[in-house]
Amino acid sequence: MAEPLPICYLNGEYLPFEAARVSPFDRGFLFGDGAYEVMPVYAGRPFRLAAHTSRLTQSLAAIRMEDPHTPDEWRGIFAALLAKNGAQDQSLYWQVTRGAERGRNQGPLPKLPRTVFLFGTPLTLPTAEVRERGIACVSALDTRWARCDIKSVALLANILLRNLAAEADAAETILLRDGYLTEGSSSAVHVVVAGELRSPAQSPKILPGTTRRVVEELAARAGIAHRAAPVSEAELRAADEIWISSALRELLPVTSLDGAAVGAGMPGPIWRRLHNELQAYKRELSGQPW
Ligand code: PDD
Repeated sequence: MAEPLPICYLNGEYLPFEAARVSPFDRGFLFGDGAYEVMPVYAGRPFRLAAHTSRLTQSLAAIRMEDPHTPDEWRGIFAALLAKNGAQDQSLYWQVTRGAERGRNQGPLPKLPRTVFLFGTPLTLPTAEVRERGIACVSALDTRWARCDIKSVALLANILLRNLAAEADAAETILLRDGYLTEGSSSAVHVVVAGELRSPAQSPKILPGTTRRVVEELAARAGIAHRAAPVSEAELRAADEIWISSALRELLPVTSLDGAAVGAGMPGPIWRRLHNELQAYKRELSGQPW
């Protein structure tokens, strides 16, 4: 795990992360009562800023909190933090919790000053070697709650599920609910079945992935057939290609699932096309204002 960049943002202040303090009564700490985002920054330029900002606002609305900042205010905070830490590739983490009160109150929802925390970490994208080999995944029953569309800081189920992969020396746990693919423990999942790219339709069972959205846009641009449609466990296991996508891992081919080869057991041709499209898209954006 990479060490965070030295300066973080906490409730209006920019300070060394060692000096940042939050109350033990913070509802994020007591209840996991908050929402978060993770956004890649390439050479100092946030990638798909608007999508991340609006997803945070949506997550907060779903847990009955107003976003404490407008998109322009968020932009100002990112710009100041990037200026303080340097404009290298990094992932920006930001979270908003319902705030701290004196004690432990399960209801009604209190109106408090929100706790807003941001920090950056140097971005370590998967290496060419990892991409060319592809990753191993395991599958598991999706034991999360019924509102996985909310990017909640309450990630206990996700981290326990991800740990199943870590224990099996695999890179991700692919989740199945009622016999159908949902997503990964910290990624969206795409499959190629009979030449067609497919991911489950957006629903409360999955997070609206920002990288997934980019993949869909690029597939449309490249003329690759794409459909949001259910993927049964049998279709998943017989898929020609499986990929995961996320802000931190971009687009990675899955070459084994539960020890069985996916397709030919190597990264597939449609993954390669879209990976190249994604890199071209990042280059295209690199000179543009954000
Ligand atoms: N997670 N689904 C889940 C459950 C996730 O946690 C993530 C990403 C995604 C992909 O979303 P996006 O493409 O917007 O990153 C899908 C981030 C990276 C995290 O929690 O660290």
